[in-house]
Amino acid sequence: MKAYRIEKDGKVGRGVVVDMAESDLDPGEVSIATRFAGINYKDALAGLGGAPIIRRFPCNGGIEAVGTVLTSEDARFAPGDSVIVHGRGIGVSHDGGLAERLRVPADWVMAIPGGLTAQEAATLGVAGYSAALAVDRLEALGLAPGDLPVAVSGASGGVGAFAVAMLAGLGFQVLAISSKADAVPFLTGLGAAEVITPGDLGDKTFGPARWCGGIDAAGGPVLAKMLAGTDRDGAIASLGNAAGVELTTTVLPFILRGVTLTGINADSDMNTRRRIWARLANDLKPDRLADWADIVALRDVPDVMARMLDGQTTGRTIVGFGNDAPT
Ligand SMILES: NC(=O)c1ccc[n+]([C@@H]2O[C@H](COP(=O)([O-])OP(=O)(O)OC[C@H]3O[C@@H](n4cnc5c(N)ncnc54)[C@H](OP(=O)(O)O)[C@@H]3O)[C@@H](O)[C@H]2O)c1
Repeated sequence: MKAYRIEKDGKVGRGVVVDMAESDLDPGEVSIATRFAGINYKDALAGLGGAPIIRRFPCNGGIEAVGTVLTSEDARFAPGDSVIVHGRGIGVSHDGGLAERLRVPADWVMAIPGGLTAQEAATLGVAGYSAALAVDRLEALGLAPGDLPVAVSGASGGVGAFAVAMLAGLGFQVLAISSKADAVPFLTGLGAAEVITPGDLGDKTFGPARWCGGIDAAGGPVLAKMLAGTDRDGAIASLGNAAGVELTTTVLPFILRGVTLTGINADSDMNTRRRIWARLANDLKPDRLADWADIVALRDVPDVMARMLDGQTTGRTIVGFGNDAPT
């Protein structure tokens, strides 16, 4: 079997496509023939040594996979089932999805919900799941469509683009924040009412209310400026760090406007996964999902990762395996 395998390189990892024996995969009750695996920013950091993500070397990369069950020692799954696995250590401390085969504990596996094909589920992947989790959290914190928009940073990336489409689909006005001038047609096509650059956020640590809340895939100074412009009782969901991990802000958004800063971690428990994936198959399912992803081959992974870390990718890129691989 072929795999994008990450070996230790100093304090970080370095990935390369290799041939390996299936018997060398990490153990688990469920063996899966991978059909699709999305490439995420975290995968790119892990594979290109951008951060010490991998906890156990060598390790197949890929924090998500969609595939077909080959064998199962657990009664919940049977050969032929279409399943999705994300988080729970795959691509970090357990051989991950960027490989023709995956073997995982049954507790990590979820059936793809009705209403989504395998390709649609993979197109959504961790990015769509995280965006949906953030939208769901903002709704729980009281955000509803109104006069002010919801701001979305890193808007042209995987998480950001899904967040824009889902919020617009729910009737929110969406203010997309993107550093790519050429992403404006893409983002307005997804339903963004306006697209601005991170530079347009200004440099105030507290300023006039411009949005009722936001989803932040960028982090760092972008998150600080999103907090500065959030309306009374608004909420910002922080889920990414593409622009930095440090947060320098003041308490003013919190004590003068009652703003909530809430954190999103996509490695949810199984009940939350089932609930959010059910929404992804229904009210949060973006239109024309089949058109959202570029499907590439396993050999293309290093190149896609390099462009991703350079901020040059748009939307989702997923690897197709077997009959689903591009010709
Ligand atoms: N918390 C969780 O559980 C969770 C789950 C999934 C993802 N994440 C994180 O969320 C973030 C986005 O993930 P993704 O898969 O959507 O990645 P992605 O497809 O690479 O998108 C990241 C986007 O961030 C923007 N960006 C990149 N570098 C930037 C910079 N220096 N300054 C400002 N913006 C920058 C770019 O969008 P623009 O050009 O449009 O600005 C880029 O397209 C990552 O940090 C990822 O690790 C977290």
